[in-house]
Amino acid sequence: MPSKKIEIFDTTLRDGEQVPGCKLNHTQKMIVARQLEELGVDVLEAGFPVSSPGDFKAVEMISKEIRKPIICGLSRAIEGDIKVAAEALKYAARPRIHTGIGTSPIHIQHKLRSTQDKIIERSIDAVSYAKSFVEDVEFYAEDAGRTDNEYLAKVIEAVIAAGATVVNIPDTTGYCLPHEYGEKIAYLVENVKGIHKATISTHCHNDLGLATANSIAGVMNGVTQIECTMNGIGERAGNTSLEEVVMVLRQKFKGVYHTDINTKGLTETSRLVSDSMSVQVQANKAIVGENAFAHSSGIHQDGVIKFRESYEIIDPIDVGLTHSEIILTARSGRAAVAYKAKQIGYDLSKDELDIIYHNFISLADSKKYVSVDDLEVLLKKTLPAVV
Ligand code: KIV
Ligand code: ZN
Repeated sequence: MPSKKIEIFDTTLRDGEQVPGCKLNHTQKMIVARQLEELGVDVLEAGFPVSSPGDFKAVEMISKEIRKPIICGLSRAIEGDIKVAAEALKYAARPRIHTGIGTSPIHIQHKLRSTQDKIIERSIDAVSYAKSFVEDVEFYAEDAGRTDNEYLAKVIEAVIAAGATVVNIPDTTGYCLPHEYGEKIAYLVENVKGIHKATISTHCHNDLGLATANSIAGVMNGVTQIECTMNGIGERAGNTSLEEVVMVLRQKFKGVYHTDINTKGLTETSRLVSDSMSVQVQANKAIVGENAFAHSSGIHQDGVIKFRESYEIIDPIDVGLTHSEIILTARSGRAAVAYKAKQIGYDLSKDELDIIYHNFISLADSKKYVSVDDLEVLLKKTLPAVV
């Protein structure tokens, strides 16, 4: 069986950018959009056009310039929103309107003050109206994670009959466990008439730290589009992180699933998003964190120096780095000190290493880590005494 393509729907500029403090100006948005196109995303959600004139303009600008990915604009299931989204997308080579409404009991009773039947009617109306502007209409069942599967299946069947080309099953509140989310997708695949006419999409939030696991569970049960953001930024605890799902599929599902993402661009894209939004990536963040390919304990350093794969499941070159890092700390052993010394031109004999190591440990105990410059000073100070 050929490997199945999983589409990457990037919502960094919509779900990511709506986070307080992450707002970008138009120039910054265009730079990020160009980088996402370069990275190879299939769909770029450029904004929520009705939300502000600034967002409208950003979606319009991105629609005019970015030609490879589908350009998507968000709307609620409200005619005015849909019309404005269509207007903002009118220059796009391949426009998509993303419309939808809450389907969980909490959303229907408390937020929308409506009934299940009325929500189905509004969903059909929204999709039909969006179809009067564009062929490609994605429907989101907001809070699908807390929506009972039987009712969700009814909604999804109705919107596909109304012409939805993509059905998005968001775990809006990050509530599901991976097996629950996977079962939800499997239930829809088995019970929704016409499901094969539409792409099934996953859009998971990270409130319990499960967004990546849930997205992958979705894929394993029939999802072929993952909605995600660079660095996992997004509402509250964030969205599924693009770099994580892409690398999970690459490392764990070779020959089964693939994406068109150029993984060598992940680090650069992560840094661009982090710098332009002024949101630091945590050091231990998978794939793109500062420490994701850094080794600091003596046992690990010795293993990596002998054979990189002893402690690395990803080649750093595949995500756009040049090498892994050996960080010198008080936990480092002789192998790491000799290795770093060799990198800066000192091929130490066993006796030299013994003396250097003794001095190194005293220094390392007084510092968080020993830089290459610190090591060089130490080598210069110590070696004349040795020879
Ligand atoms: O989390 C969510 O449900 C959303 C929808 C608007 C797709 O962001
Ligand atoms: Zn969301």
